[in-house]
Formats: sequence, structure tokens, C-alpha cells
Amino acid sequence: MNIKWNADKYTKDFSFVHQYGQGVIDLIDFNGASSAIDLGCGNGALTKALLDKGLSVIGIDSSEEQLHIARELYPDISFIQSDAVSFSVPDPVDIVFSNAVFHWIDRDRQEKMLSSVSRSLKKRGQLVFEMGGYGNNSLIHSALSNVFRKHGYAYRMPFYFPTIGEYAAMLENAGMTVTYAALFERPTELKGDNGLEDWIRMFIRTPFSIVEDKEKENTIIQEAVDNLRESLYRDGKWYSDYVRLRMKALKG
Ligand code: BEZ
Repeated sequence: MNIKWNADKYTKDFSFVHQYGQGVIDLIDFNGASSAIDLGCGNGALTKALLDKGLSVIGIDSSEEQLHIARELYPDISFIQSDAVSFSVPDPVDIVFSNAVFHWIDRDRQEKMLSSVSRSLKKRGQLVFEMGGYGNNSLIHSALSNVFRKHGYAYRMPFYFPTIGEYAAMLENAGMTVTYAALFERPTELKGDNGLEDWIRMFIRTPFSIVEDKEKENTIIQEAVDNLRESLYRDGKWYSDYVRLRMKALKG
């Protein structure tokens, strides 16, 4: 999926994405590891955290806007513009790390992405990642789907949120052995009085391509937000109903 990001707003208002990513870094075994890839590095905040752990690291992302920010913030890090599905690196690395990226890849491209990951890892190299897992944002997607239907549109789910079992099988087929897996709910506070509306505008893009004008799109978003107030607005704050899938797998 090729999204044109508002990378400044992403960095300013959605910094929780990389803040939570620190917990994913804690799953990495740094013993004897010297090289890493941050796959879908975005603005490079976690690429820098990997560099600070003493790794030589390459950040890979398909978004020109995100890479522009990453290169400005961290001029000493090497960033490559590439799709997560078909990326390649000159030499295999010890660690492939990825935070909040794999769910953007359609189900039918996941195997190809995991074979690119496997190819870029040394033997016994680690893949450590977090993505949206089964049930992620189910309240938000079902509210949007209901409002789309009410206005005569079909809502096409733009993400892939697998179960542990489903993804473990794919990792094994790609030549990796799963050593850690967790699926857990993590309700996440969204910034500001318009937190949920801003979140929908930032992340839910392709389903709106079939909506004929901006006015209709605004109506749909407003109605969905109103319908979600009862479940996702608490004590003056908006929350996103995140479910995380965290996994670690070794090549071979
Ligand atoms: C996630 O990190 O789970 C996510 C973020 C934005 C859109 C969809 C999922």
C-alpha cells in the first residue's frame, strides 16, 4: 500500500507509535549481534534507538515523506527507500526489526515479504516485530463499516490483523522458528479533543477512495466518531482499541 503521509503530523501527534516500540526492542537479544534492519522505519526514531544499542543499522521505508524527516533527524544513519515486500540489502544482517508495519501489507503479499526478510537475515538471525493482531481496532472498523453501509458504500478492510497461529505458520513456511509470541489488548490514548477523528484521518485512507466528495467523507467520519463515543471516550480522553501481536523468530 503506498500512502502519502503527513509525516510532520505523524511525528508530532502519533509519537506513541515509536514510544511503544521501545518494548519491542526489549525482545531483541543483542549478544553477539552487530547489524540490523529497521523495516518500515518511518521517521527513524526506532532506527536511532537500535543505533544507540551499538548496532550498525539500515532504515528501510517506502515513504519519501517519512524518509525526508528521518534523514534530517539522523543524518549519520543509512536510509533506503523500498517496499517492505521486495526489499534487499547487500549483506545479511543479525536482526530484522519492525514496529507497526506488517499489518499494512495485504495478506496475499505477506509470504513474499517474509521471504525477503528471511533472505536478508544471517543464519540464526532474529526477526522481532509488533503489528496489529487479530481483533485490532475492531470497534473502529465495525463503526466505519456500519456508517459506510448506511451511506450506500462497502467498507473494504484495509489491514491484515492475523492470529498467532496463522502468522506462526507463515513464519515457519518462510524458514523461521518462532521463539516468542503474544497477542494482547493495548487501549491507547489519542491526543486531543479530536483524537479519534484525527486518528481516522491519518490512518484510514483507502476505504474513502470510493466516497465521492469531501463533504460526504466528513459526514461519515463524524457519524462514526459519534457512534464510538460511548465505547472509546473515557474521562475526557479518546482511546484506540489496539490489539498487538508481538513475535520473535529465528532463521533456520
Ligand atoms: C496499528 O498500529 O495497529 C495500526 C495503526 C494504524 C492503522 C492500523 C493499525
